[in-house]
Amino acid sequence: MGNFKGKDILHGNQFSKKDIDTLIKNASYFEKELKKKKSLNLLKGKILATLFFEPSTRTRLSFEAAMQRLGGGVISMGSVESSSVAKGETLVDTVRTVSQYADVIVVRHPRLGSAKEAADATPIPVINAGDGAGQHPTQALLDIYTIHKELGSLKNLTISLVGDLKNGRTVHALVELLSLFQSKLYFVSPGLLRMPEEITANLKGKGMKIVETEDMMEAADASDLVYMTRVQKERFSDLSEYERVKGSLIIDGEFLKRLKKKITILHPLPRVDEIRPDVDPYPGAAYFRQVRNGVFVRMALLAMVLGRIP
Ligand code: NCD
Repeated sequence: MGNFKGKDILHGNQFSKKDIDTLIKNASYFEKELKKKKSLNLLKGKILATLFFEPSTRTRLSFEAAMQRLGGGVISMGSVESSSVAKGETLVDTVRTVSQYADVIVVRHPRLGSAKEAADATPIPVINAGDGAGQHPTQALLDIYTIHKELGSLKNLTISLVGDLKNGRTVHALVELLSLFQSKLYFVSPGLLRMPEEITANLKGKGMKIVETEDMMEAADASDLVYMTRVQKERFSDLSEYERVKGSLIIDGEFLKRLKKKITILHPLPRVDEIRPDVDPYPGAAYFRQVRNGVFVRMALLAMVLGRIP
């Protein structure tokens, strides 16, 4: 991608290894600066608009915190029910309107491809915060930043991705970034929730080693890191199918005891019951550190997209 200035952030496949290096460097700069001071002025006078057509806690609030930590302002559409979307306004018209007020837009929407549609409707940068079961590139960037921090490197890693690999947009974006580093991947899911065939085939085409299994213990024992995900209830048209597969892959204290070695555990959150609370004190349980990293990574992204840092 090269220079991020003015660019849309839509898909995990748009980044090069050099982009990741730059992003990690900038995010760790902001992490250090925030330790010294609570806020900076880099984005003073700039406005971020958040348009969330689906629930969110971390993504929206960490974007808003990142913008405010950099001295910028934030406007938010609020809930769908309280906006003109409830009157039948299209996404394109909403985006056209909001781009009259803001310098950058973060959008989350249930429809696959909606972020691209939004980006095509406006000249200002659009950042995809999740388009249905499609992509969630900024989550993947903060996941990569966290892996780099927790494990000290991105090279020669073996990583297990566990849970709803069919509908999980965070894993769809993350595997694109991991493919830059030739990690070995275990895809652990019930048969019904397997990684879409075209994604797996594309990764194999890039020379990646991928093992698909339902045996989480075997995969975890072979891995440096386990990335758990929630079964995406909202994507099931048949809720009896959800009932059948939910709770099939769970990490708890017992599981950790049976592991052969210490591992790192990430989760994009929210969790339902796939990581039990008795796992939280485990030193490798890094998911709340991962949450914090989201602010530094989004600070870097916003400053780069708005052209205030290279
Ligand atoms: C994820 C999402 O919305 O895709 N949440 C997040 O942004 N951290 C994961 C999920 O909802 O399961």
